[in-house]
Amino acid sequence: MTNASLSLSFNPAGIQLDPRQGLSRQLYQALRARVLDGRLASGTRLPASRDLAAALAISRNSVVRAYDQLYAEGFIEGRVGDGTYVAQLPQASLPVRKSSKKAPTQWLDLPVVVPDKVIHSGALRRVENNHLPTPPSGPPRAFRVGVPAFDLFPFEVWAKLNAAFWRKPDLQQLCYGAPEGDARLRGMIAAYLRSSRGMQCSAEQIVITSGAQQGISLCAQLLVEPGDGVAIENPGYRAAGHAFAVAGARLHGVAVDSEGIDCQALAGLGDCRLAYVTPSHQYPTGVVMSLARRLELLAWAERANGWIVEDDYDGEYRYSGAPLAPLAALDRQGRVLYVGTFGKVAFPALRLGYLVLPPALVDAFSQRRAVDVRHSEVSTQAVMAEFMAAGHFQRHIRRMRRAALSRRNTLLTGWPRDIAGVGSLPSVAAGLHLTVAVDSLARERELIEKADRVDVEINGLSSYWLPDSQEPEDQRAGLVLGFAAVPEAAISAALGRLQAAWRE
Ligand SMILES: Cc1ncc(COP(=O)(O)O)c(C=O)c1O
Repeated sequence: MTNASLSLSFNPAGIQLDPRQGLSRQLYQALRARVLDGRLASGTRLPASRDLAAALAISRNSVVRAYDQLYAEGFIEGRVGDGTYVAQLPQASLPVRKSSKKAPTQWLDLPVVVPDKVIHSGALRRVENNHLPTPPSGPPRAFRVGVPAFDLFPFEVWAKLNAAFWRKPDLQQLCYGAPEGDARLRGMIAAYLRSSRGMQCSAEQIVITSGAQQGISLCAQLLVEPGDGVAIENPGYRAAGHAFAVAGARLHGVAVDSEGIDCQALAGLGDCRLAYVTPSHQYPTGVVMSLARRLELLAWAERANGWIVEDDYDGEYRYSGAPLAPLAALDRQGRVLYVGTFGKVAFPALRLGYLVLPPALVDAFSQRRAVDVRHSEVSTQAVMAEFMAAGHFQRHIRRMRRAALSRRNTLLTGWPRDIAGVGSLPSVAAGLHLTVAVDSLARERELIEKADRVDVEINGLSSYWLPDSQEPEDQRAGLVLGFAAVPEAAISAALGRLQAAWRE
């Protein structure tokens, strides 16, 4: 032992242990943190286990267990007949320096330092600038957006099918599976889309995803090179924009008029070969894309040698007549990638959706998906396939459509009239939400705050616009209300509270 190492001493006074938690684990963590941040320098002699136990008023066993773990991980070393020392660790390569200004992580009390080269990574910066807000907490309230009437989901049926799957699982299915998804489920989805949505697609064109968001993200990963222009509706579904921006796209917000995305403006974007659209029910304005506009959009894709990502998130909900045929049903050139989800018919947390792809893209998409997650969890896919095969899915869609219609009517009937600055209600022919204009951004904020004070959740239309939008701020104001999330009685009660709060 050198004189230098002898002079290093260890003072256990700063170590606070919570007697209600595992003591050896806490001691291990405290010592480890001190080695990593330099408070315990290499060569420092640690007290004998008996002495440390006495100093901390814990059992010697707890100290021995903590030392054993530190020893096994190379943080300390023992010298026979001598004692226990902090190991010689190259100071420059310790992950954490004392001088770090970053906040400590909770569990280890370690400051997090990201080396300069990582901070400057384009990918990290893109995620920092393009991420989803934390979802609202608590059970759904009126008028949460994006949530169907999932209180009506037949959980008993689902539970039975799930139990049946696990009672006698097919062992082959429990190994790694096909990245494109369960073959039976793909067949069921294709049959459903052919019979209910007028799409001429085969099971081979379907790739199962973890919800619509992953479908959109896969399109971004595979069809966008960093620097490419991507057109998105403005206002629009910001989470889709984020997926493209994270892949390195430069987003172009394109206006939406009463027929859908403005195809002339789209054609004017020279550098753009991909457009993301919600034709069945534009999110969030609710505009249904006209046939003329659909044809124009398809012609643009052909001319630009480009792609259309069609997000049909709530296409099942149409309140007069049958659901509209998707854009993909009109596509003769293999330009449309159709994004579907079970989240708006079952419930969002199911995380089950699908893509319907031009045949030439299927292999690349499933290979890309395999690199990410290999494939979706097996029982959810198998149970959904059985749920569809046994007719529950179609029955459930009908039930959900009736419920959403009735909840929509409750909102339309009880909506507070003549509120200053609030435009008239639109007619709502489809979807699960509606949008009302408001005459200024300040008024939008005020109405939302007042609603929140009486426990009513409303989104501001202004939050659906891209930050660099050219439209005057006040023209971006409005209220977006989901009407399906809670039953009629809760909607009526919320409307009563709104009426009083807004008239104050
Ligand atoms: C336009 C749009 N697309 C996709 C989604 C998300 O679907 P999923 O939950 O399947 O990812 C939503 C959710 O609200 C949406 O509004």
